Amino acid sequence: MKPYYVSTPIFYVNAAPHIGHLYTSVIADVLVRYSRLRHPDRPVFLNTGTDEHGLKIQQAAEAAGENPMQFCDRISERFKELGRAASIGSSRFTRTTNIDHKMSAQYFWDLLERSGAVYKGQHSGWYSISDECFYTDAQVETITGQTNVKVATETGSIVEWTTEENYKFRLSLYREPLLEWLNGNKLSVYPPTRRDELILQLSNPENFKDISISRPRSRLQWGIPVPRDKQQVIYVWLEALVNYLTAVGHPWTDGRNDGKGWPTDVHVIGKDILRFHAVLLPAFLLAIGYELPSTILAHAHWTVNRQKMSKSRGNVTNPFSVLQLYGVDPIRYYMMSVAGNFHDDSNWSEEQIVNHYNRDLRGVLGNLVSRITSPGLTSLLNSLASEEGHSVTSYALLDKNLPEDAIIKRMLEEAPSKFEQHFSQFEIGKALEIPMGLVNEANRHFIHLRWWEHKDSPDIIRRSHFYTHEALRIASILLQPFMPTKSQEVLAALCAGCNQWRSTVLGASGVPAKSKHTAPYSTLFPPIKLN
Ligand code: MSP
Repeated sequence: MKPYYVSTPIFYVNAAPHIGHLYTSVIADVLVRYSRLRHPDRPVFLNTGTDEHGLKIQQAAEAAGENPMQFCDRISERFKELGRAASIGSSRFTRTTNIDHKMSAQYFWDLLERSGAVYKGQHSGWYSISDECFYTDAQVETITGQTNVKVATETGSIVEWTTEENYKFRLSLYREPLLEWLNGNKLSVYPPTRRDELILQLSNPENFKDISISRPRSRLQWGIPVPRDKQQVIYVWLEALVNYLTAVGHPWTDGRNDGKGWPTDVHVIGKDILRFHAVLLPAFLLAIGYELPSTILAHAHWTVNRQKMSKSRGNVTNPFSVLQLYGVDPIRYYMMSVAGNFHDDSNWSEEQIVNHYNRDLRGVLGNLVSRITSPGLTSLLNSLASEEGHSVTSYALLDKNLPEDAIIKRMLEEAPSKFEQHFSQFEIGKALEIPMGLVNEANRHFIHLRWWEHKDSPDIIRRSHFYTHEALRIASILLQPFMPTKSQEVLAALCAGCNQWRSTVLGASGVPAKSKHTAPYSTLFPPIKLN
């Protein structure tokens, strides 16, 4: 079976990892963990890695006084560490300086050349080293000040006029099939508004000019040589995009994909690199006759004080320190609950992290755990069980259909399918609301029944326990993609081996008549304070 293949962008090694990199990786990891939960028989493949060639890296290495390879080794290692620190279960870490990637990129180049879409010519335009791309006149503006500088309107990066001889790619040949792909597949680009914007942009043939796909060696030494032309180096974006193929064993010299994973099911990327992924990559793939990816999920960005994060503003948040300070699962939870819709930018706030933790994780989820494990309820349940000498089955309770239980019962029954529905539409933030909504309602239901005022009512005691148990159990199964550690801790306290999708059915694993008194809430979600 073809693996469910998800990728993160490969990260530039010119600077240390920041929370934007962590965010993109968490999204990819959540998708993969969901697939593993929902389709346990389907293999999964998660590719991440580092983008190590280009002028920007060459200059950063020079500035650090290191040779480029040493420099790349050092920073690339930081990105690997970030994955480990955030429970990102990657299957492969692709580095563009790896020898297999060089072969893959050069092979890809050969295929492009053979397609007839490549020619040598002169290219003039505004080049941005920071974005590693050319802009047209219409895409740049002048910032007036002490010195007049030209910048790319979209990214604000400084550009300089460059004329050079290089290889070019006839992008315009692929305009029609590209538009067909975008129009014909609702999920080709997600969220839909970004797909609509892109289609609108591409409807203008002006946006389909031929692009440069190599750079003269005199300008760029740190890159992969164009096959058979020592004077030219493969354009860093073309080469970087090929990493997604390298990761699954390209070149497929026998002409087949060998079932290893291509095409990608989801490329998780940021909105700033959508054009590279949704125009250039598919155009290259169309040229050589490879299959197109299923979905490009282009998320929005994190801002700090509503401003773009940047080294020059000094507002870049270090992901290692927030993971350390607030915990891996709370940070993953925060990111997906605040920025799980991918459409709008979100403002990073440690105050908000603490508030969300206290309100949702400690206050709602942790609280429900403390309720089910409370010594009072436990001892009443246990004496009921020994008095009656038999356990009350889940189904006997469900059959009662009491109006007071109607909401929680319906929510429990509907939770898995709603969760699945949201995931199939990449509504990850909404999917996360399903288990959190369950535990919220279970708290309300628990308080409403007030067992402590009805200690002589076996019915109320059993119902309090049953619905709390099931809400916690089903919610924790669904929370696994988001909070792999905390959800397992809750599940381990409730039942053995009940963490599978098939156990999300209400009453599926039977609710014990006796209650164990474990997983105290204080260790599950200990209090945290704003640093
Ligand atoms: N190397 C290219 C990607 C090549 S993929 C074939 C690159 N690298 S990057 O390190 O600059 O950015 C990696 C990812 O981080 C991008 O998807 C980008 O959108 C994302 N983010 C950068 N800043 C971000 C935020 N402030 N917030 C969220 N994501 C951000 O681009």
